[in-house]
Amino acid sequence: MRILITGGCGFIGNHVVRRVLMIPGVEKVVNVDALTYSGNLDNCKDIIDDRYRFVHESINNKSAIDEIIEAERISVLIHLAAESHVDRSINSVKPFVETNIDGTRILLESVVDSKKSGTNIHFIHVSTDEVYGSLKPDDPPFTEDTPLNPQNPYAATKAASDMLVQSFVNTHNISAVITRCSNNFGPRQFPEKLIPLMTINAMNKKALPIYGDGKQIRDWIHVEDHVSGILSSMLALIVGQIQSGEVFNFGAENERTNIQIVQTILKNVGAEESLISFVKDRPGHDRRYAMGYEKANRILGWRPEIEWDTGLSDTIQWYNDNKSWVDSITSGEYRNYIENQYGIDN
Ligand code: NAD
Ligand code: TYD
Repeated sequence: MRILITGGCGFIGNHVVRRVLMIPGVEKVVNVDALTYSGNLDNCKDIIDDRYRFVHESINNKSAIDEIIEAERISVLIHLAAESHVDRSINSVKPFVETNIDGTRILLESVVDSKKSGTNIHFIHVSTDEVYGSLKPDDPPFTEDTPLNPQNPYAATKAASDMLVQSFVNTHNISAVITRCSNNFGPRQFPEKLIPLMTINAMNKKALPIYGDGKQIRDWIHVEDHVSGILSSMLALIVGQIQSGEVFNFGAENERTNIQIVQTILKNVGAEESLISFVKDRPGHDRRYAMGYEKANRILGWRPEIEWDTGLSDTIQWYNDNKSWVDSITSGEYRNYIENQYGIDN
């Protein structure tokens, strides 16, 4: 296997890079990342392996992608590069359309071009539960058959990219699998997302901004369990255990309200609940996500392994132990973002 990973310097991507290097038979891992605000070279700085190569490049540069695919004789492409934050997509959707839709389009075209010249590339498309929209309190969890019904601009661009992948499977007969996972947490997540933002603010005794009533629900999963799901789907596709075009949902049966999460973080860090600050709700805020993973369990033998309490306390410990990583991020652009987003100087 010669694997191209897009977005390998982001939160989930760096865990994927580490894990694919452990798979027997992997000859080459090329990480293509544009290093946007959420991409961080430090996330991969400890990866020292002759088989690993980093390329600072955008997926929107087709000739560069084609060149890498050809020169490195790529046989598998794991696509994680994206604009990933809902709040930013509300402020400006353009980069989301460019990377999530058009960037995916370019990768798919490169895969088709390779196929025409005789090389089949397996395409692993990493998507999200948000494409299904929002659940009511008593609804059953999403399944792979739940209709796509995205409710925010980020989710709409991810749903569009999923549909592009499916259309390329149908019309160009490429080999692809789509994975959809619930909210991830773990080390090296950019601190604009709930868990690292609240952890870092609690440690620094700064305000913890909760949107609306804080009763929105997410199904939290440790990033390493998500990576196991991505890699299991990849291997199943490569050996022909599943057909091209299959979708797999990954979740953790771990539904929590935002306020519960924040209270747990505060307790863990030993900070006061008075730091909680209820702020104006996110426009169009999805109320509840929950992912059923019966299909992944039945076909791939996958299930989440990391227990919430230990996963969360280990994650909090990681942010506590890696203050230089936090400090390098929480300056510059990040400070401006926080100020504009919450109207508070953090
Ligand atoms: P992230 O924002 O931490 O990382 C995204 C990475 O993509 C960054 O390294 C960034 O530099 C890179 N990137 C952005 N635009 C690029 C471009 N044009 N060319 C090359 N690289 C580019 O995001 P994440 O949380 O690691 O998410 C990774 C993927 O997983 C995304 O596709 C996201 O939709 C999906 N996902 C995330 C979650 C979650 O909870 N974080 C859950 C399900 C699915
Ligand atoms: P987030 O981590 O942005 O993930 P997503 O919106 O993709 O699920 O947010 C998780 C939940 O936390 C979501 O309901 C919004 C809420 N939230 C806050 O209440 N305050 C915040 O400052 C952030 C970033 C999120």
